[in-house]
Amino acid sequence: MNRKLLVAANWKMNGNLALVEQMAQMLNEVTINDNVEVVVSPSFPYLMTLGDKLKSDCIALSAQNVSEHEKGAYTGEISTDMLKECGVKYVILGHSERRSLYKETSTLVAHKVKAVLAAGLMPILCIGESENERASEQTETVLASQLQPVIDEVGIEAFNDIVVAYEPVWAIGTGKTASPEMAQETHQYIRGCIAQQNAEIADKLVILYGGSVNAGNSEELFAQADIDGGLIGGASLKVEEFKTICSTAKGSN
Ligand code: PGA
Repeated sequence: MNRKLLVAANWKMNGNLALVEQMAQMLNEVTINDNVEVVVSPSFPYLMTLGDKLKSDCIALSAQNVSEHEKGAYTGEISTDMLKECGVKYVILGHSERRSLYKETSTLVAHKVKAVLAAGLMPILCIGESENERASEQTETVLASQLQPVIDEVGIEAFNDIVVAYEPVWAIGTGKTASPEMAQETHQYIRGCIAQQNAEIADKLVILYGGSVNAGNSEELFAQADIDGGLIGGASLKVEEFKTICSTAKGSN
């Protein structure tokens, strides 16, 4: 299956207007291989500014979160319609930092996935096990338990418009990357979970790896059969490093 590869930057609560400027300049100059899309997720205040500066069709904007509600008295929240007006295409949902620090449950994540799809945006649905869960061989159970509420909420057909990001919690921001073999094995399991319900959708599903991806390991990770790109935190804040990561995505799995 010739799936598209996605290289997605997750800036988290980092960056400023200077980084927006430098990153846009680099992205407007870098050669992005065929069948590759680069996605940048700055914090909300920078979305429109960055969007206005980007010139290529193979670069898209993503938000890092959204409200599950359409509109109303939810002080401090951002709606899917607002993101659409800012030119956003993707929304990162279920990131482990949202799950652990902001107590977002898989049920809430599923509601957000539904809201994002209803607005015609694409969720980047993050799932992943903790260090203890991997050590006690619960990885597959945890991943299935994070996927199932979403399948129950939106149905398997909706996975035509969902990107999944496998992010082992122990690898996020720690420098401890999953080995390409370990990541591949887990991605294969995730694709298998979807295949049990619809093989065709599973075959087309883009599954990103996230967790300490950098310019030194991205090429090998992205070359794995079931790894369709990455969700990149720390290394996506460094313009030159992110440029190298973008060019290691070959788009021909
Ligand atoms: P990291 O973060 O690349 O800094 O490990 C990845 C993520 O949290 O999406």
